[in-house]
Amino acid sequence: MSIAVTPVKLPIAAPQLSIRGIEFRSIDPWRPPADLPSGLSRATPKRQAEFLAGRIAADHACRPLGIDPGRLPVGSERRPVWPPGVIGSISHSDNLAVAAVGVRSRCAGVGIDVEKVNGNRRTDFLVPAIVSEDEIAMLRDRFGSGLAALLLFSAREAIYKAISPFLSGRLSYREFLLTGCDSGRLLFARRSRKTAHRHLPRDMSVLFARTEDYVATLYVLPAVGTDTAPASPANDMASWT
Ligand SMILES: CC(C)(COP(=O)(O)OP(=O)(O)OC[C@H]1O[C@@H](n2cnc3c(N)ncnc32)[C@H](O)[C@@H]1OP(=O)(O)O)[C@@H](O)C(=O)NCCC(=O)NCCS
Repeated sequence: MSIAVTPVKLPIAAPQLSIRGIEFRSIDPWRPPADLPSGLSRATPKRQAEFLAGRIAADHACRPLGIDPGRLPVGSERRPVWPPGVIGSISHSDNLAVAAVGVRSRCAGVGIDVEKVNGNRRTDFLVPAIVSEDEIAMLRDRFGSGLAALLLFSAREAIYKAISPFLSGRLSYREFLLTGCDSGRLLFARRSRKTAHRHLPRDMSVLFARTEDYVATLYVLPAVGTDTAPASPANDMASWT
């Protein structure tokens, strides 16, 4: 199997990070795959393709920083193993794969997430397990209930990916509660200190962008001793191409 990729411009940015996206499609999906970790040799062609696409997006994001990511092995809890001194995050949904990469001296972690709007991911099950009615109410006028649920879910996935290396156990999705929303950010507050890597901030600001087809969210965990303010928000409804 191989995949054909087309770079896409993403409507989400952070000065500390190189962020790249690609659209991808499988070519010859039933041919034995090359360049896959052994754990994926029996995965479905769709899963193999998205894995490869995520690695290619990561490679594209690394290059402007002068980083050669190599093969990016799969680490514990499925986390990609980035080169020393590098932090990064990968996400894929439908035929879009994205990666955000930075250096550890500028941020302690990063989480990026994309979700296809009206894709296979059902949003009704998200409430109340992952998203509360109160949170939906804060965003309903602006996005409608379905999109609000998807955005909140995506933001929590982005936070989780950024902080996951610091966690010792599972976290509840409701550990971070929505406290506000401005033009390009969702603001969350941590409910308790049980998440407690001591460097995890109490307040978290997640950038978001949306198009007709996707929502994207980005959380940058600040480097120790730096301000918690992350990037500037990108515009809603910016183009992906
Ligand atoms: C890991 C998880 C975040 C992946 O999210 P997803 O929406 O299914 O898939 P995405 O395409 O957005 O991201 C998948 C990529 O994230 C990366 N990833 C996987 N596990 C990860 C982890 N523990 N930490 C950071 N990144 C991870 C991988 O690169 C993966 O792609 P790959 O397997 O092709 O390399 C999700 O499956 C999960 O476990 N969620 C639970 C989060 C949680 O417990 N939240 C509670 C507190 S907020």
